[in-house]
Amino acid sequence: MQNYTLEAAAKRQNEIQESLKSQPQNFLLPVFHAFSPAGWCNDPNGFSFFGGKCHLFFQYHPYSTQWGPMHWGHLCTSDFVRWEILEPVLAPDSDFDCEGCFSGTAIEFEDRHILAYTGVSKNKNGETLQNQCLAEGDGLCYKKILQNPVISAANVPFEFQKGDFRDSKLWREDGKFYMACVLKMPDGKGSLVCFRSETLLDWKFVSVIDKSSGKSGMWECPDIFKLDGKDVVIFSPQEMKADFENGLHDGNNSVYMTGFLKRPEFIFEREMRTENSLNFAQIDGGIDFYAPQTCLAPDGRRIMIAWMQNWESYIVPQNYLWSGMMTFPRELEFKNGKLFQNPVRELLLYRKKCECGVVSGTSSFIKNGFSHGDIELEFFSAFENSADCKNQDEKFSLVLSRNVAGKKFSVEFTCDFAEQTLCFDRRNSVEGGGKINFRKMKFPPSSFRNEKSAYGKRISLRILIDACSMEVFVNGGEAAFTNAFFLIPDAFVSSENSAVLEMSVSENIRAEYKIFKI
Ligand code: FRU
Repeated sequence: MQNYTLEAAAKRQNEIQESLKSQPQNFLLPVFHAFSPAGWCNDPNGFSFFGGKCHLFFQYHPYSTQWGPMHWGHLCTSDFVRWEILEPVLAPDSDFDCEGCFSGTAIEFEDRHILAYTGVSKNKNGETLQNQCLAEGDGLCYKKILQNPVISAANVPFEFQKGDFRDSKLWREDGKFYMACVLKMPDGKGSLVCFRSETLLDWKFVSVIDKSSGKSGMWECPDIFKLDGKDVVIFSPQEMKADFENGLHDGNNSVYMTGFLKRPEFIFEREMRTENSLNFAQIDGGIDFYAPQTCLAPDGRRIMIAWMQNWESYIVPQNYLWSGMMTFPRELEFKNGKLFQNPVRELLLYRKKCECGVVSGTSSFIKNGFSHGDIELEFFSAFENSADCKNQDEKFSLVLSRNVAGKKFSVEFTCDFAEQTLCFDRRNSVEGGGKINFRKMKFPPSSFRNEKSAYGKRISLRILIDACSMEVFVNGGEAAFTNAFFLIPDAFVSSENSAVLEMSVSENIRAEYKIFKI
């Protein structure tokens, strides 16, 4: 077994950083998104405020662009736009986590930053064990505590699959500590359980907060918080079966539930969602959104960030030195019982020059030399009624392309008014042959309604485009659609020709756009 240490991980990170800095043009580096400083990253971890800054840890394997024995990497920011790269804080270097330091969360307690994470190890028979562990630190250096693991299978009063017991969510309430994590029941279904402690060291089982109702398998990465007076639980269920009308896709999804977390029992009573006919709903309908986690900002905002990739949609060009990005952080709020998400307002301070215009009829807008930006679009349909637009095209499309060594790589985003769908197609981008390269999502039912007709006359989109991603927010944040892509095939092909942005609409649509440089 290789010996993984924090020193080796930091050294590796520095070496890769040097290479990325000396040839940034060869690696399509995101401009306003957090991304892996070296090698692979997945889930955000320990997203929290400590010492006046926002800290973001993440699942990290700096040694290659593939998943491997998990470390925790560390970034920190004052405005969610510029991220400072710090040294990794956890390496799989102890007997209770030698197979990996898996996902978890962080809180501030008595001037210390406490990290809760899952230690993965093997028992004598070679079977995987997952247990909950703690580390504490000062915002830069962290030490695992001596009593690890603090929660193991022995704390759970029923049978479950010991190799799937992870993703600790730690919080403090009424002078006590609580930890929730997910586990796999003997039948393969996910369940969310809760523990309580007065001291952080001795934990008692409290409850099964909630469990899969049969629509999914194992759950991952839970978060629990209060927002606008409601209890919210988010998690990422695996093995979901697609249900297009209800906004779910096959495989790994990320969903939220609202309702009431009954205390002192700590049992969640779900309520029906307004956006579908279920008691949970998708958070983001795009291909690349997984394992979201939230933090509470000192000014009271609940901010969410997610891994901008998914297990079934892994894409990375050849020879790359980094792989994995985070979504742009989003402010959450409820409006009419529905979850709204919008890019944190700090991004507005980075908006530079604005280019405005109109695309209508058969005209289109082409911008050469486009690399990234923050776009606002307002659409108007020529039709007052749904009946009038039957069999007519009512579409907006945005194509982003690059010519690299005589070959054109492109992605296309479409907003179809008549069909009421958003669509992302990356089949002509790098790794176009990968597993999932196309996604269509239905608009939330209210989107097109206005006081006049079923097909409202107006719809608005905000689109954040960075070097390798496009995040779309519909009607002030009532739906989100996040997709990643690469438009150059390998690290050493120069990407000097920046992307071309082309927007066009069908005859019956008028689009007013504002493109802000970031
Ligand atoms: C989710 C996940 C977590 C786990 C981590 C391992 O993406 O599978 O459940 O802790 O990734 O890297």
